[in-house]
Amino acid sequence: MGGMDTHRYSFLPGMGAGLVFERTEGAYLITSDGRRILDAAGGAIVANIGHGRAEVVEAVAAAMSRNTYLVPPFATPERVALVERLQDHWLPPGIERCIFASGGSESIDLAIRIARQHFVSKGEPERFQVIGRELSYHGTTLSGLDVGGHDKRKKAFGPYLDDPPKAQACYPLRCELCAGEAGCTLACADSFEAAILAAGPETVAAVILEPVGGSTAGALCPPDGYLPRVAEIARRHGVLLIADEVMCGFGRTGAKFAVDHWDVVPDLLVGGKGLAGGYAPIGGVYATNALVEPIAAAGDDVMFYTFAAHPAACAAADKVLEIAQREGLVERAAKMGGQLRDRLLDALGAHPHVAEIRGRGLLQAIELVRDRETLEPFAAADKLTAIVVAAGLANGAFFYPGGAGAAQDVICLGPPLSVSEDELELIVSKLAKTIDDAVSHLGNRA
Ligand SMILES: Cc1ncc(COP(=O)(O)O)c(C=O)c1O
Repeated sequence: MGGMDTHRYSFLPGMGAGLVFERTEGAYLITSDGRRILDAAGGAIVANIGHGRAEVVEAVAAAMSRNTYLVPPFATPERVALVERLQDHWLPPGIERCIFASGGSESIDLAIRIARQHFVSKGEPERFQVIGRELSYHGTTLSGLDVGGHDKRKKAFGPYLDDPPKAQACYPLRCELCAGEAGCTLACADSFEAAILAAGPETVAAVILEPVGGSTAGALCPPDGYLPRVAEIARRHGVLLIADEVMCGFGRTGAKFAVDHWDVVPDLLVGGKGLAGGYAPIGGVYATNALVEPIAAAGDDVMFYTFAAHPAACAAADKVLEIAQREGLVERAAKMGGQLRDRLLDALGAHPHVAEIRGRGLLQAIELVRDRETLEPFAAADKLTAIVVAAGLANGAFFYPGGAGAAQDVICLGPPLSVSEDELELIVSKLAKTIDDAVSHLGNRA
């Protein structure tokens, strides 16, 4: 396997790490030449229970030997078990309806379609627009790109996008909205109202946001009053609230869902990634009864994706969530996240190129800048984030790249929620060394 040609796998030359990863185990990725690379990001912030748990593999194998494929609306034991677990143990109060897709992007597209169908069925067909935010990401479908605010990922696709009005990002580090005020006025939350008004309130179906941000600008965390304020604005305009918890859901931030930190119950909650922790491709949309009722009353269908709720994926998700419950991984994410934060602040809090360390639970990000006083970023052409990721792999750790707009260079951490204290120490020391290596690599290149 050592001689495998990674170039043939790459769709574009240079994609990937030039390594063959032969196995994943616990918090480690193991290469074909036997190197153990600490998975400081759980892949794309996915591997919530760590890699290679035999009991998940067994659950998937058992499901596959029972049920190969059935259309998604048909109930099977794996599907029913997963929905019951979600309803009984995971979803916020009042959110009871579950429907699945094969990942986060599909789930967001599904949530947008459900929001639209809700209003069409209710006799309000003029409502179709979905208002997102700057510095956000809601997946790679055209609908997800359209409601998202990720400049780099949208760049090529302008002709396909309507680009509805956006609310401002909630980005305290560089916030100019509250300039001249004594403190935060939640003007960024109020900018949702401005965007709704700009779009024409009677045409707006939903607002969408990541309650804790993903990799776009790096784990942006709102101040406490933010989410309740946005929920109130949405309600006042008869607009649905969609919480995109594809990255921050299922325990990642130290609560089952990030909305739970602020006791806000959205109309539609979207999850993916941590749902099956990487053991299978699955995402989901969770809705209140009130949201679904008009669609059902009109006798309309919600179109399914062929591979949605695959029995193997449902079995994987059910087992992953069972393990998370049994091992108290949500509480553990809060505790270990606090430790990770403290250690990051010790090691990197005063670093000349660290603008901010932010996040919640085990979703943390480090924003890198050329000058921490002025917040001037490195030159975009330096591609610092890519250099950090490559240097991390050379130092035996995988860090997840992020960054968009003003938050140009961002490194995300999202280790398994089962990560040990020693592994956290290692993540921090490897990250500190890696940042220094990357910056000096840039210096040597200049
Ligand atoms: C907040 C958010 N929404 C949607 C997506 C898209 O999910 P997927 O990559 O599983 O399609 C992502 C992926 O990173 C995400 O972080």
